Amino acid sequence: MFKTIKIKGATGCSSVMIGESLLNLDKYLPVEKTIIITDRNVWRLHGKKFPPSRVITVEPGEKTKNLDTVRHIYEKLLEFDVDRSSFIAGMGGGVVCDIAGFAASTFLRGLRFGFVSSTLLSQVDASVGGKNGVNLGGYKNIVGLFNQPEFVICDLNLLSTLTETELRNGFGEIIKHAAISDEGLFTFLEKNHGKALSLDRKIIEKLVYASVRIKSGIVFRDEKEKGERRKLNFGHTFGHAFEKTLGIPHGEAVSAGMIAAGELSVKKGFLKQEEFERLKRAVRLLGLPVELICDRAKVIDALKRDKKREDDSLHFVFLSGIGTAVVKEISISELEKDLRREARGVRREYRS
Ligand SMILES: NC(=O)c1ccc[n+]([C@@H]2O[C@H](COP(=O)([O-])OP(=O)(O)OC[C@H]3O[C@@H](n4cnc5c(N)ncnc54)[C@H](O)[C@@H]3O)[C@@H](O)[C@H]2O)c1
Ligand SMILES: [Zn+2]
Repeated sequence: MFKTIKIKGATGCSSVMIGESLLNLDKYLPVEKTIIITDRNVWRLHGKKFPPSRVITVEPGEKTKNLDTVRHIYEKLLEFDVDRSSFIAGMGGGVVCDIAGFAASTFLRGLRFGFVSSTLLSQVDASVGGKNGVNLGGYKNIVGLFNQPEFVICDLNLLSTLTETELRNGFGEIIKHAAISDEGLFTFLEKNHGKALSLDRKIIEKLVYASVRIKSGIVFRDEKEKGERRKLNFGHTFGHAFEKTLGIPHGEAVSAGMIAAGELSVKKGFLKQEEFERLKRAVRLLGLPVELICDRAKVIDALKRDKKREDDSLHFVFLSGIGTAVVKEISISELEKDLRREARGVRREYRS
């Protein structure tokens, strides 16, 4: 049996099915009227389990998430004579789901669509919440829209073919969800990190379920990211800057970003030192880094170019305990000052 979480958004309802199988996909869509969008890796590894629908494959990876790929998909949809009764199924990680959701939402002013989420990161994060879009001109997700998929199948069996790096990307987001809103989940993760890393079915199911519940709860209360949804950005202000400057995997960058944000939370008096130590320990237990060596000037430059900033300030997510977060506006110059202070060698975490 699988578990379902229903998300009610302004743009529609979405059922996230945790533990459902790709083999049952044909129950949820009109097979003959469906176009599957996937990437070459997922097609190679799991294509045999797809229903007999027409397929569009794209190259794997973030570089594919652009308007050229969307155009290629539109042209294929024209070729396939797609009409309003057609259905688009995105099968893959966050890249495929973001592109497929965007193409489906815009072609013919919107087709029905759903996802089979095949990475841990997309199951716990990317395919939940109704954000779709692509990158442009070096900016991530700058073109896109909010639109809920009809369903998301989180087939846990698909996770067994992921690399350790891809798995860790997902664990980074699970730690984030626990840290900002669920101390119980955080404790569970601390206790079961070994089983989690070895993909023990029961443990993974519980982690994916709890994560989707947290994200969908926040999204339900603030679909268009005006307030609470910003908490989901915990660790991502510094994280995106680290990712951009160092070219490291998202999970590693976000983990170091959570540590940087945690440290700032201690400095500001929001978070107790022992809670910060607990965050660090959990990040380490999941095989993620708490230290990075990077070029400070480049990190500051990347922070300044964060598209989420408003004039000189941005909404920064601080931890106020394990399981609670607060969002405050902070000026870029203050963040910069903070990074520079560390440059004097007080901390080793982000030295140049
Ligand atoms: N829409 C949102 O709210 C949201 C939230 C978070 C992240 N995202 C986006 O998600 C993207 C990252 O997602 P991702 O980490 O899933 O990346 P991804 O889609 O690039 O997948 C990572 C790699 O794993 C491969 N892969 C996918 N499923 C596999 C499987 N079962 N076995 C083996 N390999 C498999 C892919 O081919 C790819 O090479 C980013 O573009 C990010 O912006 C979106
Ligand atoms: Zn993330």
